[in-house]
Amino acid sequence: MNAAASYRPPRPTELAQCGLVWYSAVDDYMARLGRPLPPPYLDPLLDLLRHLLSTDPERFVVALSRVRGVDPGGSPDQIVGFGIALQRDHVWFLSQLYVLPQEQGRGIGRALLTRILPSLPPLGAQDTAADLRPGVLATCTDSAQPVSNGMYARFGIVPRLPVFNLVGTARPSILPTLPDGIDVTPFAEVERQGHGAPGSESGPAWLADTIAAIDRDALGYAHPEDHAYLRANGRSGFLYRTSDGRPIGYGYHSEAGRFGPVALLDETLIAPVIGHLLTTIQARGATTVWVPGANDRAMVAFLRAGLRIEGFPAQLCWTRPFAAFDRYLPGSLALL
Ligand SMILES: CC(C)(COP(=O)(O)OP(=O)(O)OC[C@H]1O[C@@H](n2cnc3c(N)ncnc32)[C@H](O)[C@@H]1OP(=O)(O)O)[C@@H](O)C(=O)NCCC(=O)NCCS
Repeated sequence: MNAAASYRPPRPTELAQCGLVWYSAVDDYMARLGRPLPPPYLDPLLDLLRHLLSTDPERFVVALSRVRGVDPGGSPDQIVGFGIALQRDHVWFLSQLYVLPQEQGRGIGRALLTRILPSLPPLGAQDTAADLRPGVLATCTDSAQPVSNGMYARFGIVPRLPVFNLVGTARPSILPTLPDGIDVTPFAEVERQGHGAPGSESGPAWLADTIAAIDRDALGYAHPEDHAYLRANGRSGFLYRTSDGRPIGYGYHSEAGRFGPVALLDETLIAPVIGHLLTTIQARGATTVWVPGANDRAMVAFLRAGLRIEGFPAQLCWTRPFAAFDRYLPGSLALL
């Protein structure tokens, strides 16, 4: 075990250091796989870290230590690792856990993880299970990373489902259009309509409640704070309804090409919804999307639209099932 590290929440000014830890940790093992990272562009990661520090400050911890081999005489402690998880309803999700390459294998990653896991209830006399944390524990890992997969699996957070990164310039005209009887409205327009008058099926409060209900059905939990973050960071959302006004799903795309999340109550609509989002919000360059293997309709649609699988798959890991991934596409692997 590492005796020298100390642990505490980060200061807002330290998030850039966390970003550099992320870059070093990922670049190190990707380089060993022959796929080194391009030069760092950390702005999207720092936006996410700022968001999670605001929503889950008690689940964001940094490890500080003197970095081995660097000025052993007098260098001050610096951030050598960090971990951050989010809690949404009953689901705890590990968003990030990274340790500098030269500090790995000394117990820092495990110490960070145990500090941000939900606390254990007291063991009852009959309890023999090694881990009895209530709710669901989940995360997403790289399939090529045995250390993280092994460490999380010991807590029951076992890899269950591959998630493929599909990338490319889309040709959505090949996909089916939305069927008759399905209406689509941009989120901003739903919010403007009705001005939130009581009883009207529009307005900001109605939209927030509607999205939360769809999320609880498809993803297993509501996360309004993350929708606000997505919209503030360039993703455009659309609400899909039957012609008699019944909400049946939502989806996002962005001009930067970041696709998702998409949540549907009816999985047979996935191909036309993908077609609609790719057509309505045209990416300036390539579109990138994460597709769970369970979402066969989305996989077929994106491949037919011209996207290609990039690299090796990630893996969704959980202690207990929580989402219907045949009708949910995550917006990223760090924030489903
Ligand atoms: C993954 C990472 C955060 C772990 O941090 P770390 O400080 O190196 O990890 P620790 O030394 O605390 O513990 C590693 C654990 O993994 C276990 N482990 C290592 N290799 C393993 C393997 N092949 N199979 C099973 N378990 C393995 C170790 O036994 C240890 O578990 P233990 O504490 O129960 O004995 C760190 O290695 C890292 O940043 N890696 C690169 C980036 C990354 O992959 N991050 C996770 C994103 S999904």
